Amino acid sequence: MRKKRFFSGIQPTGEIHIGNYLGAIKNWLNLLESGEYEGIISIVDYHAITMPYEKKEMQDRIRKCAATLMACGVNPDNSLLFVQSQVPQHTELSWILTCSSNMGELERMTQYKDKSKGSESIGVGLFSYPILQTADIVLYKAPFVPVGEDQIQHLELAREIVRRFNKRFGKVFPEPKPILGEAKRIMGLDGGSKMSKSLGNSISLTDSGKPLWKKLASAKTDEKRKLRTDPGVPEDCNVYNSYHLYFSSSEDHNKIQEGCTSASMGCVDCKKILLANMEKSLGPIAERYQELMETPQQIDDFLQKSAIKCREIAEETMQEVRQKMGLR
Ligand code: TYM
Repeated sequence: MRKKRFFSGIQPTGEIHIGNYLGAIKNWLNLLESGEYEGIISIVDYHAITMPYEKKEMQDRIRKCAATLMACGVNPDNSLLFVQSQVPQHTELSWILTCSSNMGELERMTQYKDKSKGSESIGVGLFSYPILQTADIVLYKAPFVPVGEDQIQHLELAREIVRRFNKRFGKVFPEPKPILGEAKRIMGLDGGSKMSKSLGNSISLTDSGKPLWKKLASAKTDEKRKLRTDPGVPEDCNVYNSYHLYFSSSEDHNKIQEGCTSASMGCVDCKKILLANMEKSLGPIAERYQELMETPQQIDDFLQKSAIKCREIAEETMQEVRQKMGLR
């Protein structure tokens, strides 16, 4: 049976956080482990240059991102994992799709509005970013896109652009559908906004021991629970909803429900249970990450072989696109 193809991307931020892991990467791994899907996963460096960045750090960020994904379970037997700028067809198709897009629909993107808030001069790259994202997906004719909730609006736009292109030039691309996992939107340690490295409210996937405890200790809990003797409401607590739900067993959930609502357990005790459970789940990933970073050849080989294959697939699509558009 032919496997269904998914495409997904992640920015090389230098620190993949547990929001990326629970919202997207775990979802990729579940699909891959089902045996029904093949994955094409891109480290999207062209997306990362839409904001100011340190040139000398970029290659290190890319390698760390690849090592983290491999440590989570992305491997040459289940996926292609490549760096976006190694496949030039992404930018070629992006221009072509730019000519099938409208300013108004891009102006409505909430991520663009958030990121450009307060800036006097807004980069065109930031504005047209969702078009490049559309090109990323459809270059591989991927019908499925596992992502976190923050990408849904970009996917709706991608479907619209694809419909317009297909109507004008004849059907080339499938309309990509998002696949959401169990954890759609992981909140940050502040409890008030989505976990995001740029907001400084994130927990890295490779954090453990003291640094992890320092972050958990600062995490917002149920704000109504002011004193240790006040009973709390786990459903109103970010630590419970965003982290315990995904890292702790149902036995621990019951223990916390009982302890928190009766005030027999304090927030520090509850966070200590979380620390132990997170270290148990994430410890093997951190270990594997260290091993991979010590043998970077494995990482570079995987990225290079994947890029060769991706260029082949991408070029095949581009030949069809150019021909349909009367460009060749
Ligand atoms: P990026 O790098 O911001 O995030 C990568 C993936 O992690 C998910 N995610 C979250 N999920 C739940 N809770 C959170 N707090 C959280 N933070 C991040 C994101 O939804 C995403 O799935 N534009 C994309 C990258 C991209 C892409 C693509 C994705 C480029 N081309 C094509 C899919 C298909 C981005 O910046 O993701």
